[in-house]
Amino acid sequence: MIRTEMKSHNCGELNLQNVGQEVTLSGWASTIRDLGGILFVELRDRSGFFQIVTNPQINPEVHKTMEKVRSEYVITVKGKITRRPEETYNEKYPTGQVEMYPESMEILSTSKVLPFVLDDENVSEDVRLKYRYLDIRREKMLNNLKLRHKICQAARSYLNSEEFLEVETPILIKTTPEGARDYLVPSRVQEGKFYALPQSPQIFKQLLMVGGIERYYQIAKCFRDEDLRADRQPEFTQIDLEMSFVKQQDVIRTVEGLIVETFKAAGVEVKPPFIQMPWQEAMDRYGSDKPDTRFGLELFDIGDIILESNFDIVKNTLLNGGIVRGIRIPGGASYSRKDIDDITKLAVSFGAKALANIIYLEDGTAKSPVLKFVTEEQAKAIQDRAQAQAGDIIFFVADKPKLVYDIMGRLRLHFGKSLNLIDESKHNLLWVVDFPMFEWSDEENRFMAMHHPFTSPCLEDMDKLKAGDLGNVKSIAYDIVYNGTELGGGSVRIHSSEVQSEIFKALGLTQEEAEEKFGFMVNALQYGTPPHAGLAIGLDRLVALLCRTESIRDVIAFPKNSGAKCLMSDAPGEASLQQLRELHLKSTVQTK
Ligand code: AMO
Ligand code: AMP
Repeated sequence: MIRTEMKSHNCGELNLQNVGQEVTLSGWASTIRDLGGILFVELRDRSGFFQIVTNPQINPEVHKTMEKVRSEYVITVKGKITRRPEETYNEKYPTGQVEMYPESMEILSTSKVLPFVLDDENVSEDVRLKYRYLDIRREKMLNNLKLRHKICQAARSYLNSEEFLEVETPILIKTTPEGARDYLVPSRVQEGKFYALPQSPQIFKQLLMVGGIERYYQIAKCFRDEDLRADRQPEFTQIDLEMSFVKQQDVIRTVEGLIVETFKAAGVEVKPPFIQMPWQEAMDRYGSDKPDTRFGLELFDIGDIILESNFDIVKNTLLNGGIVRGIRIPGGASYSRKDIDDITKLAVSFGAKALANIIYLEDGTAKSPVLKFVTEEQAKAIQDRAQAQAGDIIFFVADKPKLVYDIMGRLRLHFGKSLNLIDESKHNLLWVVDFPMFEWSDEENRFMAMHHPFTSPCLEDMDKLKAGDLGNVKSIAYDIVYNGTELGGGSVRIHSSEVQSEIFKALGLTQEEAEEKFGFMVNALQYGTPPHAGLAIGLDRLVALLCRTESIRDVIAFPKNSGAKCLMSDAPGEASLQQLRELHLKSTVQTK
């Protein structure tokens, strides 16, 4: 590091080996204590703390200046490092055996009283976000940002060694349908036209493959105007990569190496190859395409047994394309009626119309309102399928597949958490593969691409695609899942313009619409496109999980709140009439 006149050393790096050295330190006066007329100041910089002492007997001038210093003033001190008397060693800090009686000092900057105490853990997030620049002075935030930096460095270094080129792609692009809602930017020079901010560099990274870059990566900003949650921000960062002349397993191997290196940067050792689980199996066993495999409580299917029974209401659901899935809660026979009501209410809040239960009592009998619809043998078959013991309870739901998976997957997570079944020391990484190509959207009343429309369908499903059997077309898409969170996703891409047009057609885009929206893309595919595939990891999620924090806001320097607002700058703000006029816009909202 280049040493500067104001700072020859970092506070946190000094120790007994520096005793006798003349140094200049600069930083923030963190705490100031007056012990019998002697001032002890903890000087803080990014690297840590260092103790400064002033004594009127030793250096009255310096002491006088130090008397003016208040908490969070910025000061610079010059002097020799000395050993502290042994009985005053402070084990809390690595610099706790040394200190300095400055020969000179200067106040570089004063500070108002802070709106909150930096080491108070109970400050509301709103206050922290309003004064984020102060929040960043807190050790926790600083450490999160340091780890984020280390993870980025590890990613870059690994990808560089694998001969990836870092290429930047544009931020002002053309709006594309599919996926989330776009952020739009009005054009001043092209009246009535809009740019969109990229939801990801997807199209551009594919065009880089057409361009012969072969291996690309970017730590890329992405923008999505969607409803926010703890693990979603309107602007977020991806470690985005794309490779030519590769198949799914090549990308998987490459990304496993990336995961190993980024986890190592956080001190976590993981060993590939990670399990590859087909999407259907993940849904059937865990009710989720991002299964948390740190605990059991796997779901089971009793559809075949119900179909034989007189349980007509559920049977009809099954006969109309529905499914039924159950979960066994060991020891759940002791639940009270109220407990079961609460669990049912929870399932209803997840979208269930009803939640059936069977209690297996200690005396070997079963208790349930549904037993009247099944024979004794059928009841026994259900118990066997559930592997239920005396003392257990099972719950089950029948409905449309998507809803059943969602409800049961969420119930499973609820029990995993509330019964304390999750082993927090585990680092379970797995791939979910063989995703369906399309997903039916009730809202849009059509099939949508489950991943994105550039994902290659499985070659053996091309006939189904052509025959319009879209619900059964699989794609060559894969997600990497860590402890129940989707860290990243990717796919093998379509590299033939005919297949690409076929997919647009399946998605309900007319030839003209496809031409207008993606013409440049389909056109590019006609000029010698290598087979290519890629993936993007959500950097914020990766860092948050490795920092062991619940919210990605804790690993983003200046995040938005759940209303997509920046509480510090108050963005988004209003535009002046002049600005709107220049942009050829008229607001329908009354501006001041
Ligand atoms: P996808 O949309 O799955 O794929 O995004 C990849 C990863 O980005 C993260 N992510 C988010 N993180 C924070 N806030 C958000 N709003 C948000 N949305 C997504 C997730 C996710 O797994 N272009 C494709 C990748 C590819 O096919 O190569 C894409 O963007 O961790
Ligand atoms: P009912 O005839 O409405 O009293 O329902 C009889 C039993 O069937 C109740 O215990 C319900 O919980 C159960 N049940 C009804 N519909 C479903 C469903 N879709 N999934 C699971 N159980 C159901």
